[in-house]
Amino acid sequence: MKITMIGSGYVGLVSGACFSDFGHDVVCVDKDQGKIDALEAGRMPIYEPGLDTLVADNVKAGRLTFTTDLKSAVAGADAIFIAVGTPSRRGDGHADLSYVFAATQEIAEAIDGPTVVVTKSTVPVGTGDKVEAILRDAGHAADAVAVVSNPEFLREGAAIGDFKRPDRVVIGTEDPRAKGVMQEIYRPLYLNENPILFTGRRTSELIKYAANAFLATKITFINEIADLCEAVGADVKDVSRGIGLDNRIGRKFLHAGPGYGGSCFPKDTLALLKTAEDYDTPSRIVEAVVAVNDTRKRAMGRKVLHALDGEPKGQTVAVLGLTFKPDTDDMRDAPSLSIVQTLLDAGVTVRAFDPEGMEAAKKEMPGITYCRDAYDAATGADAVTIVTEWNEFRGLDLRRLAAAMTGKAMVDLRNVYAPADAERAGFRYTSIGR
Ligand code: UDX
Repeated sequence: MKITMIGSGYVGLVSGACFSDFGHDVVCVDKDQGKIDALEAGRMPIYEPGLDTLVADNVKAGRLTFTTDLKSAVAGADAIFIAVGTPSRRGDGHADLSYVFAATQEIAEAIDGPTVVVTKSTVPVGTGDKVEAILRDAGHAADAVAVVSNPEFLREGAAIGDFKRPDRVVIGTEDPRAKGVMQEIYRPLYLNENPILFTGRRTSELIKYAANAFLATKITFINEIADLCEAVGADVKDVSRGIGLDNRIGRKFLHAGPGYGGSCFPKDTLALLKTAEDYDTPSRIVEAVVAVNDTRKRAMGRKVLHALDGEPKGQTVAVLGLTFKPDTDDMRDAPSLSIVQTLLDAGVTVRAFDPEGMEAAKKEMPGITYCRDAYDAATGADAVTIVTEWNEFRGLDLRRLAAAMTGKAMVDLRNVYAPADAERAGFRYTSIGR
C-alpha cells in the first residue's frame, strides 16, 4: 500500500514509521521545513523510546520518506491519513479543526485518482462529514474518494508498542472499498489476531473521546478516593488493588497521583463536554472530572507547602520530574506547571530536575533553577517532591538525597517509595492516599 501521512507530529510520525515497518510505502508530510530537514538527517522532533531506530531502519529500507510537498506526496496514494493537531480552541475549549480542514482542502486539490482519506487526528463527532463535504465540493465523487475515521490510542512513551500490539483498532466507515483498503493496511495486526472493530464513522469518532473521558474519570475517581484514604487512615494502593482485581473494574489507570495532564486527556475531556453541550446532552460526570482534576493540581502545590517546616517564604523545594508522565519530553498540561506556580506564589525557591523535559520546561517556567540530577536539585533544599515517576527516581539513594538537603521533608506525589524506607533514610515523608 502507498500511504501518505499529513502531519509529522507525534501521531503522524509514530503511525507513519509503524506503517512503513509493516511493509507499506509511507511518505510523511509536514509544512515545517525545519522538521522535515531534521527527520531526513535522522533527528527526531520528539522524544519517544525506539522511534529513532524505527525511523532509521525504514528510511534505510526505502519505505519511509519525508517531504514538505503535499501535492507530490498525495499522488497515487491508496490512503491519505490526516494527523495534524487539534488543539483546544482559545476561549471556548472546542477542538480547533482549522488545521484538519486546511489539510483536507489541500488534499482535495492534490488527489489524482481513487483513494481513501482517513482522519487519525482526534476530531469531534461529525468532523468526518465536514471533511467529506470539502472533498465532494472539490468534485471528488463518493465512489472515488471515501472518508474514514481511524482514531489513535497511543500512549506517549509506549507509542510504538501500542501501535504494533494494540488492544484494538477502530475503523469507522460504511464504504466497502474503504473497508478493504483499511483491512489491507492493518493486515499484520489481523495476523497477530489483534481485534479490529469496524463501525460507523460517527461512532468511531465518539469512541476516541469516550475512551479518554472514561480513563480520565477512572484516574480522578481514585484520586478522590486517595484524599478520603488520607482522611480516614486507609491505604489507596491497597484500595486500588482491592478494587482493580475485580475484572469488571480492572487494575490499570488506578494509580493515584497529582492529577492527569498531557496532550490528550485535558483537551479531549473539554472537547467532549462541548460536543455534549451542543447536542443538549450535557455530561455532568465529565464536567466534574475536569473541575476536580484542575483543582487538584494546585492542591498538590499546597500539599508540598504544608509539608514544609514553618513559613514557606524563603524556603527551597526540589522538584523531581516536570513532564506530565515519564518517558516523554512533553510538558503540556503537566501537573508540575501548577505545582511550581503555587510554590513560587508562596515565595518558595524552586530547584528542578527532569531527565528529558527541561528544555521544554524552561520555556514555560523561566523563574526556577534547573539542575544536573536529583541530588543536585536536592542540595540545600528544605523539601523534595517527586512529581513524575521517572525510573531514575524510583531507585534513588535516599540517604544521599537526605544528606544533601537542609530540611528533611519528602512529598512523594506518585507513591514511588514505601513510607518505612523513606523514614528510615531520615525523611519526614508524605505521599498520596496513605
Ligand atoms: C492518553 C491515552 O492513554 C491514549 O490512549 C490516548 O491516545 C492519548 O492520551 P497519554 O496522554 O500519552 O495517553 O498518557 P497516559 O499514560 O494515558 O497518561 C495520562 C495522564 O494520566 C498522565 O498525566 C498520567 O500521569 C496520568 N495517570 C495515568 C495517572 O495519574 N494515573 C494512572 O493510573 C494513569
